[in-house]
Amino acid sequence: MSIGQNIPHDSSRGHVSGQSVFIDDRAFQKGELTVLPVGVPAAAGRLKKINYEKALQAPGILAAYTAKDLHHNHWGTIVAEQPILVEDQIGHYDEPALLLVGTDMEELLRARSLVSFEVEKSTPVLSIDEAIKQNRYIYKANPFIQGNADKALASAPHKLQGVFECGGQEHFYLESNACIAYPLEDGQIEVHSSSQHPSETQHVVAEALGLHLHEVVCVVKRMGGGFGGKESQAAPFAAMAALVAQKMRRPARLVLSKDDDMVMTGKRHPFKNFYEIGFDNDGKILALKAHLYADGGAYADLSSSILDRALFHIDGAYYLPHAHIEGTVCRTNLQSNTAFRGFGGPQGTMTIESIIEEVATYLKMDPLVIRERNCYQGERNTTHYGQKIDHNPLPELFARLKKESNYDVRRKEIDEFNAQATGKIRGLSLTATKFGIAFTARFLNQGNALVNVHKDGTVQVSTGATEMGQGVNTKIQQVVAHAFGIPATHVKVMATSTEKNHNTSPTAASSGSDINAAAALKACVEIQKRLAWLFTHIMKGTRMDDINECPPLNEKELNLNDFEFVNEEIRHKVSGQKKTWKEITISAYLNRMSLGEYAHFKTEGLGFDKKKSQGTPFNYFTNGVAVSEVQIDTWTGEYKVLRSDILMDLGRPLNPGIDKGQVTGAFIQGMGWVTSEKLFYNKDGRLLSHSPTTYKIPNVQDTPRIFNVSFIENNENHQNVHRSKAVGEPPFLLGISVWTALKDALRYKTKGKLPQIKSPATPEEILMELTKHA
Ligand code: MTE
Ligand code: HPA
Ligand code: MOS
Repeated sequence: MSIGQNIPHDSSRGHVSGQSVFIDDRAFQKGELTVLPVGVPAAAGRLKKINYEKALQAPGILAAYTAKDLHHNHWGTIVAEQPILVEDQIGHYDEPALLLVGTDMEELLRARSLVSFEVEKSTPVLSIDEAIKQNRYIYKANPFIQGNADKALASAPHKLQGVFECGGQEHFYLESNACIAYPLEDGQIEVHSSSQHPSETQHVVAEALGLHLHEVVCVVKRMGGGFGGKESQAAPFAAMAALVAQKMRRPARLVLSKDDDMVMTGKRHPFKNFYEIGFDNDGKILALKAHLYADGGAYADLSSSILDRALFHIDGAYYLPHAHIEGTVCRTNLQSNTAFRGFGGPQGTMTIESIIEEVATYLKMDPLVIRERNCYQGERNTTHYGQKIDHNPLPELFARLKKESNYDVRRKEIDEFNAQATGKIRGLSLTATKFGIAFTARFLNQGNALVNVHKDGTVQVSTGATEMGQGVNTKIQQVVAHAFGIPATHVKVMATSTEKNHNTSPTAASSGSDINAAAALKACVEIQKRLAWLFTHIMKGTRMDDINECPPLNEKELNLNDFEFVNEEIRHKVSGQKKTWKEITISAYLNRMSLGEYAHFKTEGLGFDKKKSQGTPFNYFTNGVAVSEVQIDTWTGEYKVLRSDILMDLGRPLNPGIDKGQVTGAFIQGMGWVTSEKLFYNKDGRLLSHSPTTYKIPNVQDTPRIFNVSFIENNENHQNVHRSKAVGEPPFLLGISVWTALKDALRYKTKGKLPQIKSPATPEEILMELTKHA
């Protein structure tokens, strides 16, 4: 029952009433300290000295710490090369180098203005172009080679060459990075962090402080949004707070201001992608050659994995018979770029969607026709890395949305509108998402869960999943309630803690509920088996004292399918005998049976050969399509999204209401990335757009005037828990349809030339392009 129902998000009431507790809502403890990091005002060069004596003498300042105070300064999920506090080489502007400690934020901010830095500056590298010139690379991927792209290009009837560029993106979670560290007995530390990855936070804190992992506990109740930004980068801030807690033996709180968070933390990776495409008269793609360059910022962070995911998603929803794809991560002097919803996937997919617009303009055809011809279908169903796509819903999605959105009629109307309107042009575009579900690093595809049934029949569940608004707790709650046949209100998903769930993966790659709900279900099944065994004895009339002496559960004798757990009862289907959930659980307790279970889950069937770039990196794909219509004011370059329609395949959603929220939010966030969210840096590398006044995320006025979200029915996704599909990131890529719609509109003004716009297509970007063709 609970599965597939729209039960409310477990924090909805708390969020609306203000009772949900985020890190900074935690009550101040006796003696608690406040920590303020201080960044270096230079983007590159050597830090020679920090002058903080004056700050230390300022009112209310109790201590100051630098890199020297850390037991171990370097962290990094893939390559441990990023300093928690700068000690010599500077990576980027405003990189933390000093911690000021006091009890009052006003006093700390005043003291911060008294700190000065002696720096031997060098010229910062602030672009992919400059990094390429200077050979500053973090990572080169093994190429993805399918067939013979050179040969296919040589014989292709048509070829286009080009460059696609997209910018970074600030996560703009409403809660900045935050942590409180509590010193415990024996040198142990407990950190409460807004982290998507408690195990990594535990690890970075332990190393930084010279502790073992068993001496550190990381607890995550919830985040006020993460969007990838807290997958790796929550950890160093937790280490800063923990350092102060360890040194001063007092609780220490570090909560970044919005501005500090924006200037100190990494963002989505900007990409600059060079390509050559070969195609025939019908617009069928024959070959794609591409080299993707990602701006990794100052440090490796997760950049190599992010580039890999871009390479995996360069095909979008389209079959590439011949491909040769290379990728490089550049090292620049920007904040260390990191995970952000889509994790490189959007940057790959947007490249091919942009290329398709160009092929269509070149051939004077409707871009949708090109898309339909190249969409994975029939035998053309193997990706450029050799993974076969099973149960491919893409042709159905394209056909249905085309029909339901009235695409052909609207295209005609737009042709007519653009032919006669002055001062306005419209564009229409239908794009797709085919997002690979699984961490591409195979070892991360595992999780564990602890399920405890209490004597009154209510249940507490703990997993490694972290709640950031996406509803993973609610989905786990539903899966557990369904397993036991009890109301969802009888199940609580507890705060995530490394004490209960160890060696966990980040809640990321959209697989939080895939992995953790599956682990919880596995634990529930073990408890179900025990209860069914007990019930079998009760039905046989075995006396209670004797049950205690009965041989333990024999799996061969017990067929769990003979029992069902529904309506707060356990029922023996054959005989119809039943007991209430409360009776059976209390009876299990009295018979000294365990009502708790711990289970470990790993995703089966994954295997990818990195050297050959071939194999099965993904468990399955989440697919969807969106069609967006835009109107541009040709005098100002400003535009409106008139309408967007989204159609997705989410298998059998665990909670369609939550999923609709995910689709809607992800689409708007994707739209923001490709339209208004532009990061501005000045020449010395300082981020100028470091607050909501200068960095423009979409607001309610920017949402499409007409906005429809719907799902197709798909009962075939047996690979995942209750046949659901992951939803968190895939719809982000559908925001791209707004950008391609803008590009489509421009096509009507460029007199046959290919419109050249970068992403984000800000009104300025659009106006500059229009001016070129005036
Ligand atoms: N939804 C909300 N409300 N807040 C978030 O921070 N993060 C997104 C997505 N949806 C996010 C969100 C990202 S980047 C991922 S990977 C997934 O949620 C992670 O959660 P899941 O795996 O449980 O879907
Ligand atoms: N996706 C998201 N986050 C990740 C991944 C991934 O594939 N790998 C490591 N962190
Ligand atoms: Mo999401 S970018 O995988 O945290």
